[in-house]
Amino acid sequence: MPTTNRLFHGDAAQVCASLPEGERLDLVYLDPPYAVGTVMAMREEPGEARGRKHKASGREAYVDGADVDALVAMLTPVVAAVRERLTDNGSFYLHMDARAVHDVKVACDRIFGRKAFVGEVIWTPGNGSRGARTFSMTHQTLLIYARRDRKDARFRVSHPLLREPFAATSDKMHFNNVDEAGRRFRERVVGGKAYRYYADEGRRIGSVWTDIPAMVANTPLRKEGTGYPTQKPELLLERILRATTDEGDTVADFMCGSGTTLAVASSLGRHFIGGDASHVALEVTRKRLDTAGVAYAFVGEQE
Ligand SMILES: C[S@@+](CC[C@H](N)C(=O)[O-])C[C@H]1O[C@@H](n2cnc3c(N)ncnc32)[C@H](O)[C@@H]1O
Repeated sequence: MPTTNRLFHGDAAQVCASLPEGERLDLVYLDPPYAVGTVMAMREEPGEARGRKHKASGREAYVDGADVDALVAMLTPVVAAVRERLTDNGSFYLHMDARAVHDVKVACDRIFGRKAFVGEVIWTPGNGSRGARTFSMTHQTLLIYARRDRKDARFRVSHPLLREPFAATSDKMHFNNVDEAGRRFRERVVGGKAYRYYADEGRRIGSVWTDIPAMVANTPLRKEGTGYPTQKPELLLERILRATTDEGDTVADFMCGSGTTLAVASSLGRHFIGGDASHVALEVTRKRLDTAGVAYAFVGEQE
């Protein structure tokens, strides 16, 4: 079967708008610059430092400027192009941090309409610095939009990655029955009908995600680490993909950096469309996909 996986070198808005007429996306995840005010650099050799560029840094990967208005102006046509391409039950996840998320939320509401705002995830990467005398920002925010109406966006909760243990007090107080197989459960009667909940199935996750450390993507000791600055952990993307897509669906990330979204999409049997404006990002992504034996077409200048 010919592959539909594609990787583009180019500006996110242009790449998205240039997709063939009729091509629809089930999930778009975007993790843009956050208005940090720095140059982000690679760690490729031992001793090099990843992230904000300084003396010990490796190659420059991309610029993350400090101007929030400029970031909003850059993102506005990208978000508009994404909305045009989403399927009716598709989802758009926009990963930001506190520097610009509020400005970007207002801009997204103007494009999608407030009715399309599904909600937000608070993700704690677990590696925020804790300044002794200043307030410590230890979370990032993912804004979620549906194409038209929040009710249309899928969010599946049956996979174990979308579940968490019941609160300790609830577990102790309510799960007092045991079935023939030895599984503890509680029964609730709602509208005359009895529903059974098993302790070992846990409850659906909420909107605060504290269980996915960024460390796995950020250390060269782990297989997953590519040395790309701000690389996100595969488990974070796996959770989002399992919640919002099915096998055979199309997932896009037009600011793919090291290619995390694309690698996860491929491993879960989803098709992908990736892109980035940075040559270094594409080099890292291509190496990652090639090493994993993933087939895709590359659209851009060959290095
Ligand atoms: C935070 S990084 C993405 C990291 C990625 N999620 C990962 O796991 O590796 C942001 C990326 O956005 C890219 N970028 C910034 N502006 C862009 C634009 N206008 N079009 C395409 N890519 C852009 C940068 O080159 C950078 O790779």
